[in-house]
Amino acid sequence: MAKTRERWGSRSSFVFAAIGAAIGLGNVWRFPYITYQNGGGAFLIPYLIALITAGIPLMILEYAVGQKAQSSPPTALKTIWKKSEWIGWFAVVLVFVLATYYATIMSWCVNYFYQSFTLGWGNTPRAVETFFNQTLLAKSGSPGILGGIQLPVLIGLAVTWLLIYLCLFKGVKTLGKIVYFTVGIPWLILIIMVIRGLTLPGAMEGLNFYLTPDFSVLLQPKVWLAAYGQIFFTLSLAMGTLIVYASYLPRNSDITVNAFITSLANCGTAFLAGFAVFSTLGYLASAMGVTVPEVTTSGLGLAFVTYPTAINLLPVASRLFGALFFLLLITLGIDSAFSQIEPVVGSIADKWGFNKRKVLPLVVLTGFIVGIPYTTKAGFYWVDIIDHFVCTYGLTLIGFLECIVIGYFFKASRIREYINSVSDVRIGPWWDVFIKIVTPIVLGVSLIYELIKLIQKGYGNYPVWTAFSGIGLIILLIVLSFILSRKRGNL
Ligand code: PHE
Repeated sequence: MAKTRERWGSRSSFVFAAIGAAIGLGNVWRFPYITYQNGGGAFLIPYLIALITAGIPLMILEYAVGQKAQSSPPTALKTIWKKSEWIGWFAVVLVFVLATYYATIMSWCVNYFYQSFTLGWGNTPRAVETFFNQTLLAKSGSPGILGGIQLPVLIGLAVTWLLIYLCLFKGVKTLGKIVYFTVGIPWLILIIMVIRGLTLPGAMEGLNFYLTPDFSVLLQPKVWLAAYGQIFFTLSLAMGTLIVYASYLPRNSDITVNAFITSLANCGTAFLAGFAVFSTLGYLASAMGVTVPEVTTSGLGLAFVTYPTAINLLPVASRLFGALFFLLLITLGIDSAFSQIEPVVGSIADKWGFNKRKVLPLVVLTGFIVGIPYTTKAGFYWVDIIDHFVCTYGLTLIGFLECIVIGYFFKASRIREYINSVSDVRIGPWWDVFIKIVTPIVLGVSLIYELIKLIQKGYGNYPVWTAFSGIGLIILLIVLSFILSRKRGNL
């Protein structure tokens, strides 16, 4: 590459940016409801196993690929094996799709933040539910009925994309400074929320549910799949983010220690967030006179129905805690949101030699426009459906392909030698075993199992055609990736 590559200001900027990308709504919105749906405390076991067998090995791999190739996912993978550029593009188009619905959830958070000043979501549990389902989202009843656009959600979406643009337009050096705030502030708020949560009456009931394992759920494959899907989502794996971030590091930077720091900081934060969430749920259960599993059944809506209800019930300073909680979600989410856009911008700029500053506004505008259907009355269902297909099929497929390409075509031992030559902590042949055998088998089996289940039952309670659109989307993205990889570039 002729031009000198952009660089992070320091090693800690990179580590913070990677932690910021990892810690996001996935920790506070997705982790609790996935844990809740998959047996509470018992879920922590497959989660930990997924972290060790797939999370950390793949993170080391992605850092190594980006740093060694000094370029974005498509071109980085191309230098590893000529025919694999499309896998890089697949990750990039997939993360773009993810970004469009992630921004929609951010928009809900922006709306709640605004409402928190007046506790505008009403003061009974029923009112809160009505606020989410009817006032804010005006759910249409079926994914096929789009209805009109919900103006506040559209405005929230515009605010989110504007924030993403502002964080990114100055380049990686400035980004490296912003992330100290977008990682630091949420940690501070989270600690306040944990302390507040633990001091509420009934908190212990919630924690019992969170920490007491029910080992029988470990026999269900669905729990294991959920754990692997969550690890991919939460560590931002298989989406190009880590490859592009690592490509702004000099070639001789440490890899293994950075990977351990990022993944442990992320999962530690999710575990901590669990205390805030489940103690609050315990409080809610005791205030409503029900048991914890009876509090709510809604997955996606957990953060948006349960928390405001709990916030209302707080004896003091409920507005302050409400605002803090949604500020927590926004600051947590924003560095993840822009980390989803950077690989898209970086990949286009790297392949065709464009200036990133010119590409960024176009990507942001396209992202906003593509996201508009999520602001309709059927938006909630589509966020749910697309999230499911992107995370369950898209991410596992890319993770699987990365392992195969790097494990067999490039040779895992060769890249391990490179990793060890620059890292303080050396990794042994166990890593090759994970990349070549354990991880691809687990991912491959999960993928096939899920596909069979999908064909038998469809997804959730939605009409069958939605499952076809989900699978159709994934196929379309693969075709698009091939087309992009065929286009002539500067590299
Ligand atoms: N890891 C982020 C979260 O937990 C989500 C994310 C996905 C970020 C993909 C970057 C890329 O919220």
